[in-house]
Amino acid sequence: MKTLCPTDPAFHDKDLSVFEKPVLGSLPPFGKQMRSAFALNPDCLFMNGASVGSLPKYVVESFEYYSRCSEYNPDKFLDYDMRPLFYATLERINPYVGCKDFSQLTFCPNGSNALNTVLRSLDFDKGDAIVRFSTTYGGCYNAISYVCDRTGATPVDIPINLPCSNQEILDGAKAAIERIACNPDLKLKFAVVDMISSIPGMVLPYKKLVEMLKEVGALVFLDGAHALGQIDINIDESDCDFFTTNTHKWFYSKRGSGLLYVAKKYHNIIQPLTISWAYKPSQGWNEAFFWQGTNDYSAYLSINAAIDFVEQAGGIQKIQSYGHNLAIEAGALLSELYGFEPISDALNEEQVGSMVNVKLPLQAGNPRHDKVGEILSQVLVTKKRSSGYAFRHNGAWWIRLCAMIYLEKEDFDEFGKLLTNTIDELLAES
Ligand SMILES: Cc1ncc(COP(=O)(O)O)c(C=O)c1O
Repeated sequence: MKTLCPTDPAFHDKDLSVFEKPVLGSLPPFGKQMRSAFALNPDCLFMNGASVGSLPKYVVESFEYYSRCSEYNPDKFLDYDMRPLFYATLERINPYVGCKDFSQLTFCPNGSNALNTVLRSLDFDKGDAIVRFSTTYGGCYNAISYVCDRTGATPVDIPINLPCSNQEILDGAKAAIERIACNPDLKLKFAVVDMISSIPGMVLPYKKLVEMLKEVGALVFLDGAHALGQIDINIDESDCDFFTTNTHKWFYSKRGSGLLYVAKKYHNIIQPLTISWAYKPSQGWNEAFFWQGTNDYSAYLSINAAIDFVEQAGGIQKIQSYGHNLAIEAGALLSELYGFEPISDALNEEQVGSMVNVKLPLQAGNPRHDKVGEILSQVLVTKKRSSGYAFRHNGAWWIRLCAMIYLEKEDFDEFGKLLTNTIDELLAES
């Protein structure tokens, strides 16, 4: 008989052994063959797989299994079994983000929730500056605007115009920090730094940015929404005050699952968006996050299945290097065969995680071209059985593609043809 562990519902309630826990068999190799292990429509070419996540079948089945367990004896499961499962799962995911004292870590449904939780727990006043970047994820950008509108704090945008070097990004940040320091009416209080920006999908020089911002006394929220599964994360080594990552993007858990880290010294300040029974709990800070009103926890528990999957696939390092190498190869292929030039040249390979951003043959500012750029993502999804995130940045049109483990070079070739034909069609129609 298989030994049960603290992340198994039946470990806490033997009655739950009536449900068979899904078994993860051996997995096919990365590339096209891996597609059979995913719940995705096999007739589609998914190039935007990390945007809202794309799930292995095993994770879908495990999510359903956790959901069944929670419905068997709901009072018992939620009131008594779920708490130890919650903490055992936190303990299990913790090594992937490098936070030795995981009492500083809790689950959150997504990165937007994590940033809102932190921003709305802090006091801001007129004269406080909140730093964000021109590439900050739109939802997070708006969360800062909202806090500033309510409190009179001032948002300060640091421009990032890619392609550019990491040094240029750091120089821009330094100049903005100095401008704030020279303004007697402003004090830099808070900053959001992306580990990997959303659009363009690029690894930013986040370590140095955190360092610079901490040096001038800012509280730093490190946004790793896209980080887990693309690049190494080590919270303890980073000097950030707050951190989030989604597990549902590149780590294959059910959507609606992620992590929020809050350094211990802020535990008396940072409280969940929903205050419920565990306000100022004696059991510790993350207890307040555990119970934010009645909810379902199956998505958080699916992180266990995601870890099983990652381990069975050969580990996180193998997944990350596959994605990185494929993103580089895909950029070269799309440029050579189809003229879609990647945003980051070979000199800036450190800016590439597992996403590739290539330039589209559309002129920004040309109304006909802009119209095509604006509808391209939608057309790819609704009419072409594919996907890709088209966006305007630094005076040009680009598309962001995700090098997931179920794709290979040939898929990018197929996509290059599809994209060329789609743009030609749309231009002819406009
Ligand atoms: C950099 C970044 N931060 C935050 C988020 C928000 O994540 P979610 O939509 O899961 O709240 C995203 C989403 O793509 C993101 O790319």
